[in-house]
Amino acid sequence: MTQPFAPAAFPYARPRRLRSQPWVRRLVAETTLTPADLVWPLIVHDGKEDRVPVASMPGVFRLSPKAAAEAAKEARDLGIPAVALFPNVDGALKDAVGTAATDPDGLVPDCIRAIKDAAPEIGVMTDVALDCYTDHGHDGVVENGRVLNDASLERLAEQAFIHAHAGADIVAPSDMMDGRVQAIRDALEANRFEDVMILSYAAKYASAFYGPYRDAVGSAKMLTGDKKTYQMDYANSDEALREVAMDISEGADAVMVKPGMLYLDLVQRISETFKVPTFAYQVSGEYAMMKASIANGWLDEDRAILESLHAFKRAGAAGVLSYFAPQAARLLGR
Ligand code: PBG
Repeated sequence: MTQPFAPAAFPYARPRRLRSQPWVRRLVAETTLTPADLVWPLIVHDGKEDRVPVASMPGVFRLSPKAAAEAAKEARDLGIPAVALFPNVDGALKDAVGTAATDPDGLVPDCIRAIKDAAPEIGVMTDVALDCYTDHGHDGVVENGRVLNDASLERLAEQAFIHAHAGADIVAPSDMMDGRVQAIRDALEANRFEDVMILSYAAKYASAFYGPYRDAVGSAKMLTGDKKTYQMDYANSDEALREVAMDISEGADAVMVKPGMLYLDLVQRISETFKVPTFAYQVSGEYAMMKASIANGWLDEDRAILESLHAFKRAGAAGVLSYFAPQAARLLGR
């Protein structure tokens, strides 16, 4: 009698062999995640207190320049190569053209100097965009309800210059105006900041997942309308390749995909097509949704954090901006 359920032979190919012990799993791992892959976004503010919790982002604080310098030292000690600054400026300083964005003694220049004093070996990246400084919450200059492209370029180039002058190592335009990389590159070159890097948010999508961040920087209540005339439509990905090609030709040293977790297909296409350092931003909404599940006990915190960050490396990212950066670095250091 034949035995219909018995295998005809033993399987020769057994992928489980390479998974059978921790040491062999480590040996054959195709990608790694280390603290050197992380950039820590810091929300900074010009308020009195050193650390104010952000309600929509548990574990994230608005930091004074002094507290930002402390955070930079912590990043250095954890092996995190760079921090990225995002300002929450006093509402009274906001106006239609974002005057405070180009104040050489403003919040961001203050923070850059404080960080460079405290931890000179840390890279400082800044956000080039006007939304944190405008009373309408848009990234550029607005006229008759339209976000003007070319008029915004001048403001953005000046803002990047102010950051470079204060000591920023990387300026990261997140505004999505056409031609901003070239305008910024011109301003930096003309002022002998030829070594200041541009990490362009080349593929930045109009996303609901920036919600908690807009609360953190205080632009949520300000924003009139949406950002769909300049940030990308999430239906598209070929268009992102065109954006990246443009930004590289205009002088970008590296590019960013944002949001991150929902856009890993873009990270993979861009890194494979262009072979330039491709970064991704695990944005506030992605952080907040994980934090909410963790708080409810629905996700295991440590495992979920590391898996979510490792996914970026598997997709081909050179590095990840993540609010989990210090926590992840601590886990990886163990
Ligand atoms: C714009 C900017 C945004 C973020 C970083 N820079 C939001 C926006 O375009 O409205 C979002 C970051 C996050 O959600 O974590 N200057």
